[in-house]
Amino acid sequence: MKRLVLLLSVMLVACSNDNAPDVSSEKAAADALQALQHSTAADGKALYAACAACHGAEGEGNAALNAPSLVNQQDWYLERQLLGFRSGLRGSDPKDGYGAQMQAIAKTLPDDNAVKAVVSYIASFKAKPAAKTLEGNIKRGADYYSNLCGACHGPAAEGNDTLQAPALAGVEDWYLLKQFNQFRDGLRGADESDRYGYQMGMMGKTLPDEDITKDVIAYIQSLAD
Ligand code: HEC
Ligand code: HEC
Repeated sequence: MKRLVLLLSVMLVACSNDNAPDVSSEKAAADALQALQHSTAADGKALYAACAACHGAEGEGNAALNAPSLVNQQDWYLERQLLGFRSGLRGSDPKDGYGAQMQAIAKTLPDDNAVKAVVSYIASFKAKPAAKTLEGNIKRGADYYSNLCGACHGPAAEGNDTLQAPALAGVEDWYLLKQFNQFRDGLRGADESDRYGYQMGMMGKTLPDEDITKDVIAYIQSLAD
């Protein structure tokens, strides 16, 4: 009986983990892995066919699959993230289900030239700011942003390549919130050898609560107008 109770509670925990990919994204991942297994050439357009099911035909993203848009970010950042997934610096925490999914796909890209080729194909898409889904106190968010975030991400959240801090303006608000919380909770950027992720990991602890985090992200969203 004791064992049954234990088993049931383990199952409940598994079901309530909203970081576990759902059935439709598992299917899209399996299709992408299969497509990439047959790719050998560093042809960005052909490789991107395996990404489109989740990230959209023009890199616009798909919230239902938890896949962010890729068009509002710098090419050096996308490349570094793909290399981070490949080396296991990102997507290795057992609680980071979507990160693990993306890690498996990145590892199936044939080599670093393929990473460069797919990123330069993504860079040919037109940038388009994502729709707003979050409400927040923009004025309060602006204060926190300029005190704590702007020095790295830039006054207009346009990013800073010397500091390797990505652009945030125009990226989906739900994705920014999720990633910020992943840094805060140590699911991303906890490993000291992940130089830039670790820097941001420390920043993940600086906002006092979830309401203020939403204010900051609502402010970042307003910068994309
Ligand atoms: C099964 C769906 C799926 C497929 C297919 C997929 N991705 Fe992803 N990708 C995701 C998800 C989900 C995330 C967010 C991971 C997280 O939460 O950390 C992501 C994140 C990323 C990121 C990080 C973006 C950021 O802002 O940090 C990059 C870059 C990326 N994907 C590129 C690609 C490329 C290139 C391909 C094709 C070779 C691809 N993805 C295929 C689901 C997918
Ligand atoms: C010391 C410089 C620094 C400061 C200050 C900083 N960041 Fe970052 N941030 C980074 C770097 C570097 C990355 C990229 C991390 C990586 O490569 O994994 C990042 C990544 C992020 C991401 C993930 C973006 C994505 O597409 O996945 C979010 C969200 C974010 N920062 C929000 C914030 C917020 C909000 C603040 C202020 C509370 C802040 N950052 C302050 C350096 C900084």
